[in-house]
Amino acid sequence: MKRKLFVTTALPYANGSFHIGHIMEYIQADIWVRFQRMHGHTVHFVCADDAHGAPIMLKAEAEGVTPQQLVARIGAERKQYLDGFHIGFDNWHSTESPENTELSQDIYRKLRAAGLTYTKPVEQFYDPVKGMFLADRYIKGECPKCGAKDQYGDACENCSSVYSPTDLKNPYSTLSGAAPELKTSEHYFFRLSDPRCVAFLREWTGNDRLQSQVANKAKEWLEGKEDKALGDWDISRDAPYFGIPIPDAPGKYFYVWLDAPIGYLASFKNYCAKTGIDFAAFLADPQTEQIHFIGKDIIYFHTLFWPAMLKFAGYKIPNRVYVHGFITVSGLKMSKSRGTGISPLRYLEIGMNAEWLRYYIAAKLNANVEDLDFNPEDFIARVNSDLIGKYINIASRCAGFIAKRFDGKLLGQEDGNAFVTEMQDAAPMIAELYDAREFGKALREIMLLADKANVFVDINKPWEIAKTGRPVDLHRTCTDALQMFRLLTLYLKPVVPVLARGVEAFLNIPELKWPDAGVLMPAGHAINKYQHLMGRVEEKQLDALFDLPAAAPAKEPQKMSNTSKLGSQSQSPAIPAASTPHPASPGPAAPSAAAATISIDDFAKIDLRIAKIVKAEQVEGADKLLKLTLDIGSEQRTVFAGIKSAYDPATLEGRLTVMVANLAPRKMKFGLSQGMVLAASGDVQGAGGNAAGIYLLSPDSGAQPGMKVK
Ligand code: 2FM
Ligand code: ZN
Repeated sequence: MKRKLFVTTALPYANGSFHIGHIMEYIQADIWVRFQRMHGHTVHFVCADDAHGAPIMLKAEAEGVTPQQLVARIGAERKQYLDGFHIGFDNWHSTESPENTELSQDIYRKLRAAGLTYTKPVEQFYDPVKGMFLADRYIKGECPKCGAKDQYGDACENCSSVYSPTDLKNPYSTLSGAAPELKTSEHYFFRLSDPRCVAFLREWTGNDRLQSQVANKAKEWLEGKEDKALGDWDISRDAPYFGIPIPDAPGKYFYVWLDAPIGYLASFKNYCAKTGIDFAAFLADPQTEQIHFIGKDIIYFHTLFWPAMLKFAGYKIPNRVYVHGFITVSGLKMSKSRGTGISPLRYLEIGMNAEWLRYYIAAKLNANVEDLDFNPEDFIARVNSDLIGKYINIASRCAGFIAKRFDGKLLGQEDGNAFVTEMQDAAPMIAELYDAREFGKALREIMLLADKANVFVDINKPWEIAKTGRPVDLHRTCTDALQMFRLLTLYLKPVVPVLARGVEAFLNIPELKWPDAGVLMPAGHAINKYQHLMGRVEEKQLDALFDLPAAAPAKEPQKMSNTSKLGSQSQSPAIPAASTPHPASPGPAAPSAAAATISIDDFAKIDLRIAKIVKAEQVEGADKLLKLTLDIGSEQRTVFAGIKSAYDPATLEGRLTVMVANLAPRKMKFGLSQGMVLAASGDVQGAGGNAAGIYLLSPDSGAQPGMKVK
């Protein structure tokens, strides 16, 4: 039976470019969608910009543009990424759209009519200078417990105590610096605690729609812990706010998280209008499956608010919410705003093949809510050994003989070949894995089949038969190998669609669909001349990916900087003042000129942390580097530091130093360096005489790993 699918990915905020986390989610969903389409199922796959909210409004204001202009600028960037990574959305829209306004207001009116909304006064901090209410993230002050300054309204970074913004001492607005005032305003609420909602959500979350970890989490929230029953949801924000006006409520707007998921429907509706699909009828069809791919950070919204809103407004409820973990780079966690060390645009700009990344991500994905780690060495190994070494290799070893000796024509399949048959028989098993989003397992099975195809070629040695003059055997071997190559292409097609298109052209066959696994290319079928299909990843490409554009190639630092020396990564432009190596100078160096002035905000961008050196090791083949394992409280980092000439590793273990914790990871010849340690160096002539050398910084006693240095 043909499926009818409406598939979405989470809507990205429209105040920033895509980071690798977005691209990973889109690749996951795109593979799944392509797989479904290969079965002839109908799939409408859409996304949109999540345009509303205070951060976007404030960013636009800071840039001197309207929020609409900001959203339009970011929206215009999207295509190059999506095309670049072959993400086949049918439509890309925006929550700042007539469709979204109409749908959001309609849903609200229906919830109101069902008695599921109400208003009540809420007291909140208000910035009298900006004339707006302040979300918690815009309020700072002194910690009520330890007195640390500049702490956010929810928790203290110094003593980790948790409190509410009204507990802060001497609070100030981060927007204007003004002291905020407590002010009351009427807010609109969605009655999530209503017994109807709770009963519905119990059923919905318990109905096999969710991965077990997700269902458990949703149930925990739903049932509440001890006295904490499920709360109602504040869905309004006061003007000024960039959002959708609440009907019959002047000066009130929907909170961005109300209209964001409705953007899924808005984008689909917009697509339907352009293509003549009946929006209402498609969603009303009980056969239609509505599926959302999301990350683990937004489960709450998608498993409680969203289904309840839809249900009680009389809309179709989601059939599945597929949740994935985060992407880390060499074990480093990604920040939502900064992303990771991998810039998707840079990946494309330096000419790396998007399908290498698609393959790598697919190979590491499963159906669980697990984080996925991008490891540069592993990336090179998997792409080169699997895609090129195992798969492409089959065609490159056999195609030439067919072209040269047999006029490009294949032999028939009279006797059948056990290798080919086994590969055909694997189709349902591989399909099941794709459908269940077990892409890693699917690719492992496919590569096992590729291994077997290579064994077949190795046993039959076409290059030797070609010399001994057994043309029928040669023809047979190469035909069978190409039949297997075609089947492998079919199985890999959801992951590497462009490569598959190249193979279809080379084999001179129509677009491969899943049921084509049951048939083979017929006797006498003429293939085209083999063209190079895909190259290998080179290490230097990974070096370029992790280097910022102006940086020198990743290698050991050539020359110590004459000014304060920053352990490894001294050539990274991330901290320009300290990073430019001085040219070697003949005599004693003149005291270095002070670097250009920076603002306190520039300085605040550097996340300096106390780090404990838990391990210090020699690096084989490195003249200047030591490999340090640093404990910064929440995690451990590896840093390659150019301090070998000054320190015996054994003396470093256990001591504290200072590291830059938010430097983009940098791939070096010896591994990935995840930050840098601070050291002083340089030939300074002064009262203390000449003190050339390298001096690692140490904090005063009492400092603990992870403490911020500022
Ligand atoms: O977390 C985010 O990035 C949100 N912009 C996701 C919204 S998903 C959906 F609800 F629109
Ligand atoms: Zn504190």
